[in-house]
Amino acid sequence: MNDSLAVEAVAPYVRGRFGKPYLYEAECESTQLLLLGSGLPEGAVAATDHQTGGRGRLGRRWEATPASSVLVSVLLHPQQERHLPELSLVAALAATEAVEAATGLSAQIKWPNDVMLNRRKVAGILSELSNGSVVVGIGINVNQGRDELPAEAPTEPGSLRTLTGATYDRAALLGSLLFRLERIYGGWRHGGLTDLYGEIGARDFLRGRRITVDGEPATALQILRDGRLEIETDSGEQRAIESGEVRHER
Ligand code: BTN
Repeated sequence: MNDSLAVEAVAPYVRGRFGKPYLYEAECESTQLLLLGSGLPEGAVAATDHQTGGRGRLGRRWEATPASSVLVSVLLHPQQERHLPELSLVAALAATEAVEAATGLSAQIKWPNDVMLNRRKVAGILSELSNGSVVVGIGINVNQGRDELPAEAPTEPGSLRTLTGATYDRAALLGSLLFRLERIYGGWRHGGLTDLYGEIGARDFLRGRRITVDGEPATALQILRDGRLEIETDSGEQRAIESGEVRHER
């Protein structure tokens, strides 16, 4: 499919405030860099068809073959008092819903910010803070073939195509993502995670799974109402974690 995320391809799918303005470059280092410190209004979006230095969480790289993925960053200006780590879950819920709407399948949120489809990671989220604003970067693996996915990823990757056999219009998927993110983020601005918790909890991928947290073995209990992950360590201690590298058993 010879599609692109250029403005003329995406504009017909931009239904709300998110995506205005819309910054597009056919290739760039990272869409995050186009928005960090930009001073643009909330809902400004940067998208590309290829990143030469895509950023992942925990200092990793985010690799995607050209014209295969949704690679987008969204600028948000949340209220000062809000608990910002919750924003990753807000974005993960929006990406999960967009993946579900496109594929017709159920997707899950792997705390804190991965989207899982059929036990494979199909999307990741990176939130970066600058001067009180947050740039939320979302990468969705869409049309990659099996041999185009990273071989050495901590969570086994998949794309919508490898998992369903179909190819997808990335511009339409991006429009759907922005529309959902605007609605879900609006709910979060208004009332935090309270009204979103049912939707997040219902898609909790780790619940009940054997995991390691920064190398320590444990069982994931649940995502809590404040966005933290409740775990039980093998020594029987229950605690809530705010961040960290969580790996699950396959
Ligand atoms: C992760 O799972 O490690 C987070 C990946 C986030 C990738 C997206 S792609 C668009 C935006 N630009 C980047 O450089 N990173 C994010």
